[in-house]
Amino acid sequence: MRAAILRNTGDHDLEVRDDITLRPTGPGEVKVRITHSGVCHSDLSAMNGTIPQPPPAVLGHEGAGIVEEIGAGVTSVVPGDHVIIAWSPPCGKCKSCVDHKQPNLCFNIMMVMGGQFRQGDEIIGSMAGTGTFAEYTLVPEPAVVKIDNDIPLEVASLIGCGVMTGAGAAINTAKVSPGSSVIVYGAGGVGISAIQGARIAGAAEIVAVDMNINKLEEAKAFGATHSCTPDEVDSLKNSITGGMGFDYALECIGKPVTMRAAYDQTRRGGTTCIVGVGRMDEFVQFSAFELFFNEKILVGSYYGGTDVRSDFHMLLRLYRSGKLDLDRMITRRIKIDEINDAMRAMERGEVVRQVIEF
Ligand code: APR
Ligand code: ZN
Repeated sequence: MRAAILRNTGDHDLEVRDDITLRPTGPGEVKVRITHSGVCHSDLSAMNGTIPQPPPAVLGHEGAGIVEEIGAGVTSVVPGDHVIIAWSPPCGKCKSCVDHKQPNLCFNIMMVMGGQFRQGDEIIGSMAGTGTFAEYTLVPEPAVVKIDNDIPLEVASLIGCGVMTGAGAAINTAKVSPGSSVIVYGAGGVGISAIQGARIAGAAEIVAVDMNINKLEEAKAFGATHSCTPDEVDSLKNSITGGMGFDYALECIGKPVTMRAAYDQTRRGGTTCIVGVGRMDEFVQFSAFELFFNEKILVGSYYGGTDVRSDFHMLLRLYRSGKLDLDRMITRRIKIDEINDAMRAMERGEVVRQVIEF
């Protein structure tokens, strides 16, 4: 089958091959025919080493498709079911899942997923264990969430990462409250989803910040009440919050400078939520005094704090009722052969989401 592979960390291009196979479906596993995969910035981050991803690996982690085959003991899906792939699925039994009620942080399945692809005898890994830049993948049962057959699968694919991550950060992690003021750094797929999550949660003002001016109008079409480049943020802060700062700041880029800016634009006592994924060897500085003095809540958001078993359906209900706009988030539909062009377009900040159609 066809698949896009990262051969070495730092490679500029993925290798699109047509001789990749899957190992046989084992007990408790589900083979999925991927119909659509979104192209997320995290795939680019795996290529350039921002996100640690041992090569060789089939990239892609934002996918949806149709169940092709189930292993022994699988009960939640049958062949023909439509599913969204979850890259951090809950085991449902551990301390994270049960005691802490943070199933997004469950490692029991995520840490054993992967190694499903082959090129000849060579084992090829997969991004976050999922590898959705391939015509088929093989994952443990909890990593597939069954959805209704009438949901367009291209829309469903986006929920698998970017939309859940951004909207979940606003709704689940930051817990944006009605009437509040929100600033969102980055208006890519994740940032636009955070803007929509803040709108759904009832924020009064939502400021979108992006260095790419094309994104500023785009953000307003999804619910931002204001938008600006980073150097114009202070004047909006003054006019909207009387200089106090925003109730919530969501960083959806993954750079130290914008993480620090998000903290600075949060009011004392407000919440700074870090959604973007930065490098392990880059650091953000805070004075030892300000952390105490400002009483800001500084919180990371991993996969939008989701319980994929319920939240994927919550987002799909919002989509069906017209409150979550996913159709217009798709800037471009591409074939897997165009994946490297798609990566360049994302680097240039030209797109909200591109979706590979298989
Ligand atoms: N200041 C303002 N905007 C910036 C800056 C900056 N210094 N750097 C990048 N941007 C903007 C880009 O113009 C783009 O619109 O951030 C946006 C990022 O969007 P995408 O590349 O589409 O990334 P996305 O898929 O949304 O992911 C964002 O979330 O899940 C993580 O790993 C992911 O860290 C990444 C982040
Ligand atoms: Zn992603």
